[in-house]
Amino acid sequence: MNAVAVELTKEPTKETRQSSYQLMTPENQAMQDDSNLNPALFWVIDGHSLWKHKAGKKDVACASCHGESGLSMKGVATQYPKIIQGKLQTLEGQINRCRADKQESATLAYESKDLLALTTFVASQSKGMPIAVKENVQNKPDLLQGKAFFNERMGQLNLSCAQCHQDRAGLKLGGSLIPQGHPTAYPIYRIEWQTMGSLQRRLRNCMSGVRAKQFEYGSTEMAQLELYLMWRARGMTLETPGVRP
Ligand code: HEC
Ligand code: HEC
Repeated sequence: MNAVAVELTKEPTKETRQSSYQLMTPENQAMQDDSNLNPALFWVIDGHSLWKHKAGKKDVACASCHGESGLSMKGVATQYPKIIQGKLQTLEGQINRCRADKQESATLAYESKDLLALTTFVASQSKGMPIAVKENVQNKPDLLQGKAFFNERMGQLNLSCAQCHQDRAGLKLGGSLIPQGHPTAYPIYRIEWQTMGSLQRRLRNCMSGVRAKQFEYGSTEMAQLELYLMWRARGMTLETPGVRP
């Protein structure tokens, strides 16, 4: 697909955009809002322990460079994915860069308990802040490719992301309402999974839902799709750590 042929137009305006939080039952909303009920907070706590734990050949902790509290990470998650040294990085990817380069430690696998915990800890520092991904000269090719993926029909069901999350948002599919598909709360505690999961796990669920070949965890394609979704949700409030049904 020729990425440059796609233009970044016809996005839902800010006023009509809606987090899936709005579609949840009062019980599930309370689960996200009440710190005594939100199971994702266990991952935040685990993430904070890992943050302070020395690791790797360098025997340094994230905290050794970034401070004990994690406050230095305020606002960071609102800017990802972003281009770092010429390559599009997700937040998970950047955490793994620090593991490998700064700690000289093994990188963490997608959906591993430790990567989810660290990502949730870092992202929760931006809770309540607006998503700040902007189009720029560096990320534009990736952004356009992400948009192309969003609009491309895929799988045996031959449906695009846009056909559900733009054209049919608010309608019912099986038992569940189709949300607008804004990644405002990741990583999430998903009740159906009974655990935390990354945005990429959620996207892989949607891809398998239409019987499409799933993008690989940590792939460039995933990062491009994430970038487009975060750009599409720019200005919306980050809710991490979120709960979803
Ligand atoms: C030896 C010091 C050091 C250690 C240890 C370290 N980092 Fe970093 N980190 C940096 C520096 C320096 C940067 C700035 C960008 C770069 O050089 O990659 C950075 C950047 C980051 C960013 C991106 C910030 C932004 O504004 O985009 C995140 C997220 C991050 N680190 C998380 C972690 C986590 C999580 C750990 C522990 C697993 C960790 N770092 C360990 C030094 C460190
Ligand atoms: C057949 C319709 C359909 C298609 C096609 C589809 N999705 Fe979804 N998607 C859903 C439904 C339904 C949910 C919510 C499920 C639930 O209630 O938990 C969802 C959830 C999501 C969410 C989670 C939103 C949140 O608040 O956490 C994101 C993000 C998302 N989809 C993105 C995508 C992307 C990107 C694609 C294309 C690769 C895609 N979806 C394809 C139906 C679809």
